[in-house]
Amino acid sequence: MENYSAKFLSIFAFLLLSILSSAVALLRPPSIRAEKLIRDLNLFPNKPINVIDLDRENSRYFSSGQNIVEWRVKFPNLVDPRGVSLEDLGHHAGYYQIQRSHAARMFYFFFESRNSKEDPIVIWLTGGPGCSSEMALFYENGPFTIANNLSLVWNEYGWDKVSNILYVDQPTGTGFSYSSDRRDIRHDEKGVSNDLYDFLQAFFKEHPDLATNDFYITGESYAGHYIPAFAARVHRGNKAKEGIHVNLKGFAIGNGLTDPGIQYGAYADYALDMGIITQSDHDHINKVLPLCESAIKLCGTDGTVSCMAAYFVCNTIFSSIIARVGDLNYYDIRKKCEGSLCYDFSNLEKFLNQKSVRNTLGVGDIEFVSCSTTVYQAMLTDWMRNLEVGIPSLLENGIKLLVYAGEYDLICNWLGNSRWVHAMEWSGRKEFIASSETPFEVDGSKAGLLKNHGPLSFLKVHDAGHMVPMDQPKASLEMLKRWIQGSLSERTIDSVKLVSSM
Ligand SMILES: *[C@@H]1O[C@H](CO)[C@@H](O)[C@H](O)[C@H]1NC(C)=O
Repeated sequence: MENYSAKFLSIFAFLLLSILSSAVALLRPPSIRAEKLIRDLNLFPNKPINVIDLDRENSRYFSSGQNIVEWRVKFPNLVDPRGVSLEDLGHHAGYYQIQRSHAARMFYFFFESRNSKEDPIVIWLTGGPGCSSEMALFYENGPFTIANNLSLVWNEYGWDKVSNILYVDQPTGTGFSYSSDRRDIRHDEKGVSNDLYDFLQAFFKEHPDLATNDFYITGESYAGHYIPAFAARVHRGNKAKEGIHVNLKGFAIGNGLTDPGIQYGAYADYALDMGIITQSDHDHINKVLPLCESAIKLCGTDGTVSCMAAYFVCNTIFSSIIARVGDLNYYDIRKKCEGSLCYDFSNLEKFLNQKSVRNTLGVGDIEFVSCSTTVYQAMLTDWMRNLEVGIPSLLENGIKLLVYAGEYDLICNWLGNSRWVHAMEWSGRKEFIASSETPFEVDGSKAGLLKNHGPLSFLKVHDAGHMVPMDQPKASLEMLKRWIQGSLSERTIDSVKLVSSM
């Protein structure tokens, strides 16, 4: 205890010093940071969070004892060049009344596989924290993308080609998910993972025929926190025979934030390697690193005040890099942010706010909060916590982990991800480290570099930034397909066939 408070006091003193010595602009309050993040994507949600007055319109859906309502979705503006009958599509949307909440409802999309109902169930989680998974649905790996005239166009590489895929708006207050009670706002992975677990139980109760399918958890960015927590929660539920057994086979993290202690140490190194800062910038920026690392250590897996301190101290590293590189897009350093825009996802809000679409989705008057600044801030003490610690026991139980990262992303760069994956203590660590990198080939060209041992795989994806399925749709679909088939580390089937037939 003595030791702890002494350490804490010295961190606090250092924190004050660093606040005084840093440019004030680098220490933007989190609300401004979150807003800037959202503006950079050209998103303008009308509200900071979906907390609403209880709306009778929306409570009418649930009859007593029922905790999930789901309906078929038929988008009115789907361009349909291949004559797929819309009647045949198993496209659904729904709300789940969150069990451990006062009045929270979780919105989700469920797209049946275009291939077979026997395909695995995959759940996708977008990060933020506080951004809607519809961002991924319509810009990355969903069944269709939004054309400029706001029609939907089929995505040839949608992940629904090999899986039955769920997109969930969470934590509460994000996307179309909402509550009428502010106490339902989540602050940590315990709340997040319980809600996801409870949703999954309700979903399988609604779809008992799917409960025995293989199940995979996927997502991106801040989901590097959600995913390990959710996977561990499912595993714990299975072991305790808590509810319906979930056939959890693996979890995949794309450009995620999982082990901040290691990943914050990689920012300046990555920026230097990529030639966007100089060696002297690097050394200057990293002066705060020892302090950042000890703050993160204090934060650990369940700290509170120390985690906030770590957030403020460590994020000066990222802000200092951004201050030096100007209008560079930190999600893809090959690109510039034009004006204040790094990406333009504005069609998402335009599309989802159309009357015809809202009717199809059955969302009534619920607003679409593309990214929630309030959810972002509510999760601040969670940010610096280490989510790597729960992973080894999942690996020991044969549950697969794929960590993949687009090579040009700065914010959750591949270097930091590669480092924590290599540093992780588990029974196969030595063999993983010793295993050689092999090219990940798609159509005979190198789409990435793969390292694998047993249940653990790491893939550095070429020609991609933060949003791998958006930048490399075909390679990302191949990645998912081979990973769930267990053939990720095998040479491309086609090239093997080609060789044997020659
Ligand atoms: C909208 O754009 C899509 C894709 O470019 C095109 O196929 C479709 O015909 C357009 N629809 C209308 C109504 O112009």
